[in-house]
Amino acid sequence: MKVSIVGSGYVGLVSGACFAEMGHDVVCVDNDKSKIAVLRSGGIPIYEPGLDPLLKKQIAAGRIRFTHATEEGVDHAEVIFIAVPTPPREDGSVDMTYIESVARAIGSAMKKYLIVVDKSTVPVKTGEKVAETIKRYNPSGVDFDVVSNPEFLREGSAIKDLLEPDRIVIGVNSPRPVEKMKELYAPLRCKNVVVTDINSAELIKHASNSFLALKISYINEVARICEAAGANVNEVANGMGFDHRIGRAFLSAGLGYGGSCFPKDLAAFIKISEEAGVDFRLLREVQSINQNTLDHFLKKVRDHFWVLKDKVIALWGLSFKPNTDDVRHAAALEIIRVLLKEGAKVRAYDPVAMEKAKAVFGQVDYGKDPYETARGAEALLLVTEWDEFRNADLEKLKLCMARPVLFDGRNLFDPEKIRAAGFTYFSMGRG
Ligand code: UDX
Ligand code: UDX
Repeated sequence: MKVSIVGSGYVGLVSGACFAEMGHDVVCVDNDKSKIAVLRSGGIPIYEPGLDPLLKKQIAAGRIRFTHATEEGVDHAEVIFIAVPTPPREDGSVDMTYIESVARAIGSAMKKYLIVVDKSTVPVKTGEKVAETIKRYNPSGVDFDVVSNPEFLREGSAIKDLLEPDRIVIGVNSPRPVEKMKELYAPLRCKNVVVTDINSAELIKHASNSFLALKISYINEVARICEAAGANVNEVANGMGFDHRIGRAFLSAGLGYGGSCFPKDLAAFIKISEEAGVDFRLLREVQSINQNTLDHFLKKVRDHFWVLKDKVIALWGLSFKPNTDDVRHAAALEIIRVLLKEGAKVRAYDPVAMEKAKAVFGQVDYGKDPYETARGAEALLLVTEWDEFRNADLEKLKLCMARPVLFDGRNLFDPEKIRAAGFTYFSMGRG
């Protein structure tokens, strides 16, 4: 099938590579010419495990190419995806300018019947607006259908999430595009294909991400009780998770959720609810617990030092989660901001996210490896649970540090082992 994707970021590029892998003929569009130049020269503008070899394979097979011209994508496609950003505005509502401009460009360029699929996370009723816009900018009245097909790709495991999905949601307002959409995804043999109306499909996305964020805040609040009661939140989560009605996933206590999706999707869903006349207080509480979780971690660090000024503090992990270079809404950035403000000397290391962090904080001393970063530090803050840190050589680490003090924001280490290795150890919700 001839497929085009407008927006070649984390979602668009992974989707393009996976559609090519499924045997489709793909054109990826992006209005950032430098990004297209990188992709055309065989480079890759983001870090996502497995994406580089997959793209190389599909480029060599001639199943994927790149352009900055939306018209080229429109001419090529039977099905065209919109995967451009939907960033939050100051008040939490969604900035729809990119979606609107892509809808306009598609409308202006469309010469034959086209299925226009929204993959970006958008407020309910966006499908209707996209359809109106395309119609308005296509004076020759070419026929088309709009479909909502939200993505459920976690950065770090996006390829697997696309190729082995739990479900595929197809939101339509007419039956016409359904068979084509099913055919597009047929190679995945997914058992759960949810065909529904566009509004419900759009809500499935916001309701899902908000629910996952809710699970995280729930367990982080339970972690606070565990700390006070001398219990272990990991044990509590394991015990809860065996109940299939609850499930263990997204019950890992830590520094709270970050990234480009949960914070913005929650804010958007609260705003969408407000516009629907519903005060979704539960979600506002989820947001506030997420902030409190980070504040609580910082308080532990502050309480330990009394005064942070001039203390050398090392951070392991900058990305918002492991296996990505994405630092958008990363806990590390907020932690660094507070530490620098209070006069601490911050050193940091991340296996892949240092370049992106450097663009935000130039005044941090970025190390070459985890141990060099910890050299002379009075405390180490474990912020992102990369495997490289999980398997750290504790003896070597202890010898590097001025004082062996470890604040584990992700419960990565075994408290007994780490204390036996001579560390003063703080974690999240474990006694
Ligand atoms: C996506 C979604 O589209 C967003 O709604 C969802 O909630 C998360 O995933 P993501 O792929 O993470 O966003 O965004 P990003 O990595 O910033 O990529 C978007 C790309 O679109 C960029 O490469 C940007 O240059 C491009 N773009 C933006 C266009 O091609 N046209 C535009 O008009 C705007
Ligand atoms: C999310 C959605 O999961 C995915 O379906 C898609 O809609 C895009 O948004 P992503 O943001 O890439 O994916 O990562 P995810 O694995 O969901 O983690 C989000 C945040 O929650 C991270 O900061 C992570 O550290 C945190 N988290 C996750 C926890 O704190 N505890 C958990 O148990 C799970």
